[in-house]
Amino acid sequence: MTTVVFFPGDGIGPEICAAARRVLETVQEQAELPLTVVEGLVGGAALDAHDDPLPPESLELARRADAVLLGAVGGPKWDGLPPAKRPEQGLLRLRKELELFANLRPAQIFPQLRAASPLRPELIEGVDILVVRELTGDIYFGEPRGAEVVQGKRRAWNTMVYDEDEIRRIAEVAFRAARDRRRRLCSVDKANVLETTRLWREVVTEVGRDYPDVELQHLYVDNAAMQLVRAPAQFDVILTGNMFGDILSDEASQLTGSIGMLASASLGQGRGMYEPIHGSAPDIAGQDRANPLATILSVAMMLRHSLDQAPLAERIEAAVLRVLDQGLRTADIAAVGEPVVGTQAMGEAVAAALREQATS
Ligand code: NAD
Ligand code: IPM
Ligand code: MN
Repeated sequence: MTTVVFFPGDGIGPEICAAARRVLETVQEQAELPLTVVEGLVGGAALDAHDDPLPPESLELARRADAVLLGAVGGPKWDGLPPAKRPEQGLLRLRKELELFANLRPAQIFPQLRAASPLRPELIEGVDILVVRELTGDIYFGEPRGAEVVQGKRRAWNTMVYDEDEIRRIAEVAFRAARDRRRRLCSVDKANVLETTRLWREVVTEVGRDYPDVELQHLYVDNAAMQLVRAPAQFDVILTGNMFGDILSDEASQLTGSIGMLASASLGQGRGMYEPIHGSAPDIAGQDRANPLATILSVAMMLRHSLDQAPLAERIEAAVLRVLDQGLRTADIAAVGEPVVGTQAMGEAVAAALREQATS
């Protein structure tokens, strides 16, 4: 029996996870997949219940599962807590404990949503980018880190650090991904200023020698951020570190119209974790307004990468295209004046499209 753990988390997390669960259960019934879904607590929800953003029982659930789906964590309620007691720390620890060093964040244009993108249609034509973000190193985890008050003056510091093995293994993931795509890899760094990213560039170049069929380009992060809105169709795979990857993937999401469309897979040696790239959206939480498609597409990535069920992943992706064809839009992807549906109705519509596929 395959086990999947859902960690809905905070804010819109429970709403988008309920919609995603509905979709997973629909394909599961159709394919008669022997699969159990269990739910656990991380983030603020876990802090409230157990005073710990990643209680040992949640970590144990994740370790024993075949795959993990995470909604989102965090929110204003917990923003004042000390660093170790923040909801985000639960997610970061989960990534680190499960050694999920490779975060794949695909950003592609859904033709039905051209009007939702803030960029002109001719600029986003053909955009299909995979951001490969390193996920367990960089300034997110580097030591020393801290904050202090010295003679009444506040000071705080973090450390940006990578060793060559960490860079090599994520570069391998990105080159292999490029090989299965359009064979172009853009590595993003700040090698003109930072030693860590100078090493990054060196090691990526070395790894690239084993992939002569993949065209390797290096860009500084400031230029890359600019190129992403100037001419996004030039990119195939973008390889970058934890911090730059966080920022550039939110930027890339806007090309597609909404961050509510972007799924991700966090992979390592063992089980994977799947998460929409967006956060807990406190501004719309509990209002049935969030777009669940990023989470539903994360379920598709889970079926493909962790559960060896690529045909079922394709069915979900086709069902998402179908509801977009039908004109269903949550508020974030609706054009001005277009009618909108809620989170739950969008999940139901994807499930209905799956049932329709089965009968046609
Ligand atoms: P956010 O991604 O939560 O929201 C940014 C904006 O995008 C908001 O206006 C929000 O309404 C909108 N948005 C996000 N997801 C949406 C969806 N599915 N449908 C429609 N609109 C959506 O980022 P933020 O406001 O910077 O952060 C809010 C909280 O979420 C913070 O506590 C932050 O730490 C946390 N966060 C968590 C994750 C995660 O759990 N993976 C990721 C990012 C931020
Ligand atoms: C993301 C989020 C997280 C990150 C936060 C919540 C720790 O922004 O998944 O993109 O920075 O990795
Ligand atoms: Mn982020």
